[in-house]
This record gives sequence, C-alpha cells and structure tokens, in this order.
Amino acid sequence: MSKVVRVGIVGGGIFGQWHLKAFTQLQNEGKAELVAIADLVEEKRNKAAKEYGIVPYEDYKEMIEKENLDAITVVTPDAFHADIAITGLEMGCHVLSEKPMATTVEECRKILDISSKNPDKILMVDFHKRLDMYHVELERVIREGELGKIQYGYAYMEDRIEVSRDWFKSWPAGSSPFWFIGVHFVDLIYWVIKSKGDKVFATGRREKLKSLGLDFWDNISAQIVFKNGATFTVDAGWTLPDGFEAIVNQGIRIIGTEGIFEIDSQDRGAGACFKGKTQQSYNLGVYSEKHTPDGRIMYGGYGIESIMEFAYHVNYVLNGGNINDLKGLYADAEDGLEVSKICVGVHKSAEEGGTIIDLDTL
Ligand SMILES: NC(=O)c1ccc[n+]([C@@H]2O[C@H](COP(=O)([O-])OP(=O)(O)OC[C@H]3O[C@@H](n4cnc5c(N)ncnc54)[C@H](O)[C@@H]3O)[C@@H](O)[C@H]2O)c1
Repeated sequence: MSKVVRVGIVGGGIFGQWHLKAFTQLQNEGKAELVAIADLVEEKRNKAAKEYGIVPYEDYKEMIEKENLDAITVVTPDAFHADIAITGLEMGCHVLSEKPMATTVEECRKILDISSKNPDKILMVDFHKRLDMYHVELERVIREGELGKIQYGYAYMEDRIEVSRDWFKSWPAGSSPFWFIGVHFVDLIYWVIKSKGDKVFATGRREKLKSLGLDFWDNISAQIVFKNGATFTVDAGWTLPDGFEAIVNQGIRIIGTEGIFEIDSQDRGAGACFKGKTQQSYNLGVYSEKHTPDGRIMYGGYGIESIMEFAYHVNYVLNGGNINDLKGLYADAEDGLEVSKICVGVHKSAEEGGTIIDLDTL
C-alpha cells in the first residue's frame, strides 16, 4: 500500500480552516492523514481538535516530535512564517508555507539556505492563483508565445474593509494590503512571464485606516519593471466599502507584441441580492462545498486544490519519487524569495515616498 502524508497544521485561525478542510478532503480520499493542530490560543486549538478529531498542541515543535509527522503547513500571520518553516525543515518535515514565504529578504534567504541543505524535503509556498484555471491558461498562452514578447500589464486586488478593520486586530505586526493580497498577483506575474523583478516604484496612502486607529496602508500602487523589460502596475487595497459585492475585487490584463489577455477574476457569472444585503458576486472558483446526500462535504476550488497539491507532491516523494521531478511544479523557496524581494522593494519605495528601488541591492 502506498504511503500517505501525516500532516500537522500550525495556526488554526481564519485560513487554518481552509487547510483543515483541504486535508479532511484528502483524508476522506485516503490521500493524507490529518493528525494534529498547533495554535498558541487554547480555545482555537481545542475547537479544531474537537471538530476534526485531531490532537491539539500549543507548541508546534512538540507536535512534530510526538506525532512523527511527515509534513507541516504554516498558517500563522505573515510575519511569523519564517522561524516555523525553518524549524520544520530542520526537524525533517516537508513544509507548506502560506504566502508570503516571509516578509524580509533576510528571512527568505535563511529559508532558501535551509531548504537547499535539505534537498529531499519540499518547501512549497501556497500561491494558489497559479491553480486558477484562467491563470493556468494565461501561463500556457504566454509560454507558447501566443502573446509574443510581454510588454506591460496591470493587476489589482482589493479587499472589503472588514479584512483590515476586523480580521487583523489580532496580528501584532507585519502585514499590509500588498503583503496580504498584492503578493498573489506579484507571484502570478512572476510565474507567467518567467522573469525576476529588476526595479520597483510605489506610492501609497494612510488615511482611512489611520482614521479608524489602525496602523496599516490603505492602498499601495506599484510599478514593477522585470528583468525581461516588461512593466506591470499592481494595485492592492484594503478599504473597499462594506456594501461592496464580495470580500475581494480582482483582475489582471497582460499585453504582448502579438496579443492581449484580460481576466476579470471578479465577475464569474453569478450575482445575487438577498433581503437585508447589497448585491453579492461569487467566486466559487476559489472555494466550494458540495454537500452530498449521504452527509459528506466535498471541498474544492483552487484555494483548496493548491493545499492538496502539496500533499500529492509529498506523497510522491514518500513513495520513492525523485523530488527533482517536481521542480517547476510548485512555488519553491527560490520563488518565495523572488516574490518577497519585490514586495519588500515596493514597501521600501512607498515608505520613502516613491523612490526607485533597484531590487539587486536588497
Ligand atoms: N492563500 C490565501 O489566499 C490566504 C488567505 C487568507 C490568509 N492567508 C494567509 O494565512 C496566514 C494566516 O492568516 P489568517 O487569516 O488565518 O490569520 P489568523 O490571525 O486568523 O490566524 C493565525 C493563527 O496563527 C496562530 N499562531 C500565531 N503564531 C503561532 C505559533 N508560533 N504557533 C502556533 N500558532 C500560532 C494564532 O494564534 C492564530 O490562531 C497568513 O499568512 C495569511 O496571509 C492566505
């Protein structure tokens, strides 16, 4: 019988639930064993343990040691990924880190270094936009040269204000609209055009959230010049009004010498309006639940599939597959570093009021 990954989740907050669901789905299919959860908050770890029939831990190191895990997933706030990812690799685990891999270039380099010293272990960053079918097609079209030489493009991702106003009160430090959502499109662009960042220029505003007593950027608008000469504008924001049609607003367009590709990631063709609510739009592409007549829930969507991909890759290695066969199939530590480097440059430029940052100096 083939081996399946024994996994523990580190961080049982909002997005930890997606990891718990993805591994529940895999467990139901006989493709993973969801074993344990670590969270610093007793109530959260006990709730998840009860709901999913797993073992709760306060200390993730103790969880790795006691449960003989093959893998962990890191779903802690953005600024607290690095130490856990590094320790996980050092303790012999495959690691899935939520995006961004880390919020400093130094931490990313450390992760890359430890990852290089453990070449038989997967370090994957959960950039799930790579799994959206429209983006899969975008990558293919560009790779096969149908757009010609990529010249420029534009991407935007904006959250309804409840994300910054209500969700992040518990985050002590280290996030912004660009780290939290802009990073998704930075990775997507990096992945589809296959080029590293060269220079960035960014500006942003701190007005709305400051007026609510929150020390976050409202919005950041960045221009990123890549080594291949393509220039992209990426806007990321955290202040869409409460009545906006969905938790997020997003899209991308790319122009090359031979063509154009535009994806309205927002309008997926479904809209609704209920009593007491404003107009709602849906993205069942990222997350879906299918309730079966026999009482099971089948979880799907690219946000879930991306976590599942990690399990498939680990299972491949656990069953004797060569990890090198997987090169390029997932965002690894080098990709995590390149993407974070662009985001660090963007924040540095915005903090300095719009200086041009040469990313090779970071
Ligand atoms: N892929 C996506 O689209 C997506 C979406 C949302 C969030 N995320 C990412 O997921 C991560 C978590 O976000 P969230 O919204 O769930 O945050 P959250 O604050 O709801 O949850 C984080 C949890 O981590 C726990 N924690 C912190 N340090 C810990 C430690 N050392 N050991 C164990 N537990 C610890 C906290 O107690 C908390 O329960 C972030 O990096 C975020 O960017 C990704």
